[in-house]
Amino acid sequence: AQDMGQDLEKVLLTQEQIDTRLTEMAAEIDADYAGREVLLVGVLRGAVMVMADLSRKLHLPVQMDWMAVSSYGSGTKSSGVVRILKDLDTDLHGRDVLIVEDIIDSGLTLSWLLANLRSRGPASVEIATLLRKPEAAKVDVDVRYVGFDIAPEFVVGYGLDYAERYRHLPFVGTLAPHVYGG
Ligand code: PRP
Ligand code: MN
Ligand code: MG
Repeated sequence: AQDMGQDLEKVLLTQEQIDTRLTEMAAEIDADYAGREVLLVGVLRGAVMVMADLSRKLHLPVQMDWMAVSSYGSGTKSSGVVRILKDLDTDLHGRDVLIVEDIIDSGLTLSWLLANLRSRGPASVEIATLLRKPEAAKVDVDVRYVGFDIAPEFVVGYGLDYAERYRHLPFVGTLAPHVYGG
């Protein structure tokens, strides 16, 4: 196996920092949704780790469903035009929906997804994301639960990939420039 350490520049968030913050976020969610059942909607594939760890900290009754979306056309990441690769299997009518994401970068994916899910008649739609890059925002998205605001650096790990690699790392790190030709 290759040594991942050589590909990384630094660890941005340790496993422990992520765990601690997710515990705090789960407590907030538990309090906010007390007495209700929440439908957690994970956005494949990056949100897998956050979904697995955040959901296990919740005491609420929850259901889980998944969506896979992809930016259309140009190949430029996050054009804002989104295509559904895998839709939800759950009827959202009257449901309290909490979208679970790993990161909000430009905000374009989530802003589209928010509008799309809101058109399906849910009682509510909110967002929980582990990471957000405020300086990279191209559109304002109202996010209820944010783990960490980070600088606009290229981050991988804990679900986040570069060319599909590094998702399995248990922490969030920045990639060494040599990996992406920087
Ligand atoms: C990444 C990330 C978010 C989205 C954020 O997903 O997981 O879903 O981009 O970008 P935005 O705020 O600029 O729209 P990606 O499209 O890379 O797919 P993946 O989750 O399968 O890695
Ligand atoms: Mn994603
Ligand atoms: Mg990705």
